[in-house]
Amino acid sequence: MDNARIYINPVSGSIKVIGPVDFVDSEGNILETKENVKFCGCGLSKDKPNCDGSHRDKVKKD
Ligand code: FES
Repeated sequence: MDNARIYINPVSGSIKVIGPVDFVDSEGNILETKENVKFCGCGLSKDKPNCDGSHRDKVKKD
C-alpha cells in the first residue's frame, strides 16, 4: 500500500489526504476507512472535521 499524501492549502487552510484513511475511536477501533478525504483547517465548516467549502467565504473576505 502506498503512503497517504497530505496536501495543506496555505490560503484556505483545507487539508486534503490522498489515500486510505482509517477513522478510529478513542480506543483505537477502526470505525470506517475512506479514500481521499478533505478536512477543515479554517474552522468555518459546518460539517467538521470535513471541509464543506465554507473556507471560500473567508478567502473572498481576505
Ligand atoms: S477548510 Fe474548507 S471549510 Fe474549512
